[in-house]
Amino acid sequence: EVWNPNGKYRVISTKSMPGTRWINLLIQNDCRLEICTEKKTILSVEDIIALIGDKCDGVIGQLTEDWGEELFSALSRAGGKAFSNMAVGYNNVNVDAANKYGVAVGNTPGVLTETTAELAASLSLAAARRIVEADEFMRAGLYDGWLPHLFVGNLLKGQTVGVIGAGRIGSAYARMMVEGFKMNLIYFDLYQSTRLEKFVTGMFLPTYGAFLKANGETPVTWKRASSMDEVLQEADIISLHPVLDKTTYHLVNKERLAKMKKEAILINCSRGPVIDEAALVEHLKENPLFRVGLDVFEDEPYMKPGLAELKNAIVVPHIASASKWTREGMATLAALNVLGKIKGYPVWFDPNR
Ligand code: DGY
Repeated sequence: EVWNPNGKYRVISTKSMPGTRWINLLIQNDCRLEICTEKKTILSVEDIIALIGDKCDGVIGQLTEDWGEELFSALSRAGGKAFSNMAVGYNNVNVDAANKYGVAVGNTPGVLTETTAELAASLSLAAARRIVEADEFMRAGLYDGWLPHLFVGNLLKGQTVGVIGAGRIGSAYARMMVEGFKMNLIYFDLYQSTRLEKFVTGMFLPTYGAFLKANGETPVTWKRASSMDEVLQEADIISLHPVLDKTTYHLVNKERLAKMKKEAILINCSRGPVIDEAALVEHLKENPLFRVGLDVFEDEPYMKPGLAELKNAIVVPHIASASKWTREGMATLAALNVLGKIKGYPVWFDPNR
């Protein structure tokens, strides 16, 4: 699909993206925009090299694509100076290779913070109250009357939520669970991010605690853990929000799973390889009261054998940022990144989450 065929700068989007703002932005600024309409979901390196061709000023790409040496050298040969991932995560992008070939890299932080945190909160609630299992039970026509034991789950109020990775999304999730459900909080950040620190020591939590007390309720508690294991041992729900890099690959492994409470809930809306998924499947089989809510998988789009059959797992297809407002925002930010570089402005890239 080609927009503004006579535009001076050739920009490629490897996928169609929601909204029209990003399209207008590019075509009103002298870009010829080509949107790939290839039906297959994941484009190979060869597919993208063919799209880039002989002349290309910038590319908007997706997290399913492998942006390494080959693609950045092809883009650079075609005169390209800008690449933006339509994602905040950029583990699919070799930033060193981009630098080597003089291509600026952009990502789309900020616009997806609350949306992603909302999905982590949804999965937390769905797992705690066994919503998916109960829905399947109803649809199967198995409900034949109220019973005291039917789908008994966990009350969040007064339980402890653990957050690993206290950057933008982890902090937003923590706030939702503490403010919304009166959960106690324990958190740990591998990179010593201070975002969540500002929330807990700032105005809100102390005031909220005083408010709960004045209303005869137990105030919530919060603490920064001195190790990740402390979070695993103490929390009832643990949500993972680190970036994926060498240090966080299989951060949650067999040994760490064993440290968690038998009835804990584990949520992952970050990147699949942060969990050793095969070890998780075994753990879920051995501990039927342990539950997970997963938005991401180790070898997307696949799930490790056995996971799909487990009642104590809720699985959704990497939709954490999938709200209309957010996806349009991500598309716009990605277009701004590419356009900015073409026009000589700095590209938005935030490796510090
Ligand atoms: C991201 O942005 O990194 C998400 O995984 C997709 O929104």
